[in-house]
Amino acid sequence: MEIPGEGQLQGEAGSIWLASAPQTGYPALDTDIEADVAVIGAGVAGLTAALALKRAGHTVAVIEAARVGTGVTGHTTGKVTSLHRLAYTDLVRRHGTDTARIYGQANQAAIGHLQRVVAAEDIDCDFRVVANYTYAETDEALERVRAEAGLAARLGLPSSFTTDVPLPFPVMGAVRFDGQAQIHAVKYLQGLARAVQGDGSRVFEQTRALAVRDGIPGVVDTEGGTVRARDVIVATNVPFGDQGLFESRCQPHRSYIIAGPMDGPPLDATFISVDEPMRSILTASVNGENYVLVGGEGHRVSGAGDTVGRYGRLAAFARDRLGVREVGYRWSTQDNMPVDGLPYAGLLSPDAAHVYVITGLRKWGLTNGTAAALILTDAISGRGNPWATVFDSNRITPAASADGVADEETTPSDATGEASPQRGKVTLAPGQGTVIEVDGESTAVYKDTDGQVHSLSAICTHLGCTVEFNPADTTWDCPCHGSRFAADGTVIHGPANANLPPGPEHLPEGIN
Ligand code: FES
Repeated sequence: MEIPGEGQLQGEAGSIWLASAPQTGYPALDTDIEADVAVIGAGVAGLTAALALKRAGHTVAVIEAARVGTGVTGHTTGKVTSLHRLAYTDLVRRHGTDTARIYGQANQAAIGHLQRVVAAEDIDCDFRVVANYTYAETDEALERVRAEAGLAARLGLPSSFTTDVPLPFPVMGAVRFDGQAQIHAVKYLQGLARAVQGDGSRVFEQTRALAVRDGIPGVVDTEGGTVRARDVIVATNVPFGDQGLFESRCQPHRSYIIAGPMDGPPLDATFISVDEPMRSILTASVNGENYVLVGGEGHRVSGAGDTVGRYGRLAAFARDRLGVREVGYRWSTQDNMPVDGLPYAGLLSPDAAHVYVITGLRKWGLTNGTAAALILTDAISGRGNPWATVFDSNRITPAASADGVADEETTPSDATGEASPQRGKVTLAPGQGTVIEVDGESTAVYKDTDGQVHSLSAICTHLGCTVEFNPADTTWDCPCHGSRFAADGTVIHGPANANLPPGPEHLPEGIN
């Protein structure tokens, strides 16, 4: 059989942000504790909420399954902006002018909040004010860009149309938003965590939340103990404990990023294309070295397809358009895309009393996640918030459709849902895996770089779909709701919160 994804991968696997930040060392929870608020997830939404709540006088316990910033936020581009490609045209069409204006205000306010936190907490996270551009290379895209620029300006955003775009290749024009920013996202989150820790508030790492129970108090069961809290925030990108309420209201999407060294200083600008395939571009100085980052190749998670090819196309773009001679890092990330284009922040369900959720940040989590965190801080503190209705987690939304979600990604998924397990002989190269049938059971087999073949159950521990091997990231990915597992079966992205169990001890002959 042919194994997909054979080819040349360049660069080190893993986010440049995680590779260039020290590892945190907060303890795991090993006893039962109490706090005013329990926050599950130490990404931008969870930690922003935790610090804001602490500042508002609450004690907080942050529960993180891995380490601070190692989830979706640690795999971002680092853009902090309210210009979300052509979001305002889309939002006005779907929800009207007032909703689009409030979405823009919330995201602009998030930039300001983030900047103030960086200053107040003295967080060394390479915060830089930049202009952000959505650029057009075709006549059709140019018209859309011109319309977005005018619309966003009328909504009160710092928007203008320009043909003067500081990219090293010709484009026809762009929307330009001034006063935007970029950051080293992991260093920012580590700064937030430092500020949360102390005075009765605590951060726990390597502590997986297993269940959440609403009530007085709310209860979070974890691997190491129980957290009792008056209020609970689930900020885990893909919510859990919601009986699947958000599975029909969000679609998990995956995106890919490469980073390579550049000559000269970073630009005071970040970019995203209108034309397909979408490309997101920024430059950054990371621990004294200057890099170009290129993102794109996004697709719904219904089949990772040729992930090696996706990285290759980003590398070719970086080389041909931006002069990037080599890829230093490559990574992928996953976001929960809301079907109606608006994030969710509010109570977990219509029946919930004290359990809140943040999700559906539509790939712009540094601002949408910050705004969502401030909404929940106000809700828990008994204050009104002008953005709460637009972000309402219990609004009526259309079910997810095959047409996809907002305007963010149209790169097609080049695989089609669950694949059938292979039968017969299978020969794997080191670093490759596939799903085979053993005694009627779908079994995930992986050959490590020492040539040892390992087997796991291929049945996703969330709701039982069959996982697929992702050759570029060396992960097992679930095509149904986006759970991801490391090669050894350890869960690295929910909604699953249990590892893939071991497979059969003895594999049939011919599997090597
Ligand atoms: Fe839901 Fe796998 S993520 S079944």
